Amino acid sequence: MLKKLLIISVLWSTFLSASEVVNVYSHRHYAVDKQLYKKFYKQTGIKVNLLKASSAELIQRIAKEGKFTKADVLLTTDVGMLELARSKDIFVATQSDFLNKTIPAHLKDKDNLWFALTKRARIIAYNIDEVNADELSTYSALGEEKWKDRIVVTKATEVYNQSLLASFIVNDGSEKAYEWAKKIKNNMARTPRGVDKDSLRAIASGIGDVAIVNTYYVGQMIKGRSFSDRATSEMIGIFFPNQGVNEKGTHINVSGAGVVKYSKHKENAVKFIEFLASVEAQELFAKENFEYPVNPNAKMSPLLESWGAFKEDKTSLYKVGNKNTEAVKMFNQVGWDR
Ligand code: FE2
Repeated sequence: MLKKLLIISVLWSTFLSASEVVNVYSHRHYAVDKQLYKKFYKQTGIKVNLLKASSAELIQRIAKEGKFTKADVLLTTDVGMLELARSKDIFVATQSDFLNKTIPAHLKDKDNLWFALTKRARIIAYNIDEVNADELSTYSALGEEKWKDRIVVTKATEVYNQSLLASFIVNDGSEKAYEWAKKIKNNMARTPRGVDKDSLRAIASGIGDVAIVNTYYVGQMIKGRSFSDRATSEMIGIFFPNQGVNEKGTHINVSGAGVVKYSKHKENAVKFIEFLASVEAQELFAKENFEYPVNPNAKMSPLLESWGAFKEDKTSLYKVGNKNTEAVKMFNQVGWDR
């Protein structure tokens, strides 16, 4: 009888562990994520069920579903979106000694509602035949007359641009931030369009000479399968603006996650976020998607190492997220997309 019971309980626990899940709503669109979910399953037996859509759609959906939501974790890119999610009250505070210890203060919400998991630097890329690195200095110097008709950048609807401008609002005040947006608009080589990779292609093909892009897109082109992308990347230099408008450093945007308030698998959700912040996962983000680790114990990939160290703007990102609406308005006022 005892033996029978033992077998039943072993079978039951096997069944339970096999049925452990975490439902992740994600905006991230990078191949490395799949590898990470597999690794997480191997280590914990928790299966990742993934729902992919745009950040705005996912946030709206979770807010609308309320108590009935199936989401356990929202994983998204950019602090503008993490702050939007926070403002819709869809997160619950996460108590995790590991996350508290591991993730630096400026890279998380002040109430532990969300945590950054990767960093990306929004840098100046330049055509190496047309520009010398020593001609570049700050984001604001791109507003000078010499860059007239030479700057390529994506639209104002791109949240990466919104956060860059929001960081200037936080660091330098609205007036200077507005000035910056206006001057960049005046110096654009073409009307904003496409994604960061299109901006890189545009400067490699001579449409413009400098582009404002996220670092990992350059990495994706250098290491990618496409011959023409690799050829494009050979034309491109990377410059980390050592100073912002007010000399704060290179603007960082992030990818991050939070546990959903009405999650039915909160423990699994925390385990999942902790796993993504582990050295193993962080090094994979760096190696496969060229994103900078947030865990200080993780090593950078050789490519990231080759780009060198840079001064990072350590302004608290939740403050940047809070200025997102003002940044969007400002872009409209200067006619960024026209
Ligand atoms: Fe991206």
